[in-house]
Amino acid sequence: MQHDTVIVLDFGAQYSQLIARRVRECKVYCEILPFSASVEKILEKTPKGIILSGGPSSVYAPGAPHVSPELFELGIPVLGICYGIQMISWALKGKVQKAHKREFGLAPLHIKDHHTLFAGLPSTLKAWMSHGDQVVKLPPGYKVLASTDNCPLAAAASKAKKIYGIQFHPEVVHTEKGTQILENFVRKVCGCKPTWSMENYERTAIRQIREMAGKGRVLCGVSGGVDSTVAAALIHRAVGKQLSCVFVNNGVLRMGEAEQVRAMFKKKLKIDVHYADAGDEFLKALEGISDPEQKRKTIGRTFIRVFEKSARELMKKKGRFDFLAQGTLYPDVIESVSVKGPSATIKSHHNVGGLPEDMKFKLVEPLRELFKDEVRALGAKLGIPKDMLWRQPFPGPGLAVRLIGEITREKLEILRKADAIVIEEIQKAGLYYSIWQSFAVLTPLKTVGVMGDERTYDHVCAVRAVHSADGMTADWVQLPHELLGRISNRIINEVRGINRVVYDITSKPPGTIEWE
Ligand code: XMP
Repeated sequence: MQHDTVIVLDFGAQYSQLIARRVRECKVYCEILPFSASVEKILEKTPKGIILSGGPSSVYAPGAPHVSPELFELGIPVLGICYGIQMISWALKGKVQKAHKREFGLAPLHIKDHHTLFAGLPSTLKAWMSHGDQVVKLPPGYKVLASTDNCPLAAAASKAKKIYGIQFHPEVVHTEKGTQILENFVRKVCGCKPTWSMENYERTAIRQIREMAGKGRVLCGVSGGVDSTVAAALIHRAVGKQLSCVFVNNGVLRMGEAEQVRAMFKKKLKIDVHYADAGDEFLKALEGISDPEQKRKTIGRTFIRVFEKSARELMKKKGRFDFLAQGTLYPDVIESVSVKGPSATIKSHHNVGGLPEDMKFKLVEPLRELFKDEVRALGAKLGIPKDMLWRQPFPGPGLAVRLIGEITREKLEILRKADAIVIEEIQKAGLYYSIWQSFAVLTPLKTVGVMGDERTYDHVCAVRAVHSADGMTADWVQLPHELLGRISNRIINEVRGINRVVYDITSKPPGTIEWE
């Protein structure tokens, strides 16, 4: 299905991805391009609308990012947000200058024109402002649509040219009716049809995968994480038994995890998974290694070796693979000034790019166009259970980066038990899904304690729980004291080898989420 497309040109805003997600919530397909994309490249996408994002620069500063003025002559509707409205004014002979007062936070927006952009909205709403510069004179032919007390030209347009600008941020949740403003732009101004939905996506993706694969065979590494599971389920819907999945147990999974992942694929998704139980091989390779990066590299290398071996076994049985499936998401591939996508580095472990030449298959990346929330919605349609789709993220190198220092089987067992208690208690308290990550860390530090009449000398366990939107920044969670008390009591009573529990109250930055 051909969807109407809106393009976001990114000027380095922290919110560019959010704009695209909000547009997609209006069921209109949206892609992000860097502000420097040429007009030809933009036209290749046949957009029905263009949104200019915010950005940290001053539009009049030397070297500031600009778009070609040609963009405003294409007859394609444009909406400039924050830096975007300044860009429009600057390019079309209006005037932008430093505001008397920087404005950051909510301000009442008084709407003067209730057509197009503000159709169906009340006369005043709260808008999120975040700017140091502002437009002080509109380009010729432009009219003001809304104002705040500090910013008389908070929204303006040339309706004839379908070029709109707003100083506030409709994409953030704090702006009242923000999504409706974006929806008015993409639907009423651009005339986009609301066809972007996961039902449509599923249908189209299945057809495309079938067309591409033909009778070819597809290999997919699964980890039990959301992305690889949804990718596998979708491809399985499309080509059934032509798909072979490989699940590698790297010996540093959590308690019961390997069994849960295998059961989900077998019982819920009815997908056969080749199980490579390679814990011993990984733990042998990790012997004597304490350095965090060495641990990651060792796990990465071993993963490739084990994956390759499994693939060769499957090829012997069933014939050669033609395709390799990966759960790459849209944020991983956005070519953008601001958003490099955490996954570029984070996912290096699952990246099977290190396979030898004779195993370089064509890539199938059926989630390449999707944001994480869309992947979850698609996963739900494919029958993947909720507890799996909303699982907290778990790093590729697993417990290896939560067991500080050298990894031994004994210490891994201790950590697994403590970690299971943290998760269980957080789940029981109903907090699991509202927390980004919560887990236990086993430190090599030993301290003295007393248990009954006996002196103990055992490990310190740290509990970590953080709120985050994307893993790039994080805040420690103010867990209720009773819950912390229960976790601590249970770990000390039930886990031999730990006699002290501490809670990590470090945000990111300056800390990281994982301890290694
Ligand atoms: P940090 O510790 O850097 O973690 O604040 C940010 C997010 O990335 C995850 N993480 C990893 N994921 N391989 C992964 O697949 C890794 O080597 C890795 N290191 C950190 C971490 O769990 C958090 O969600």
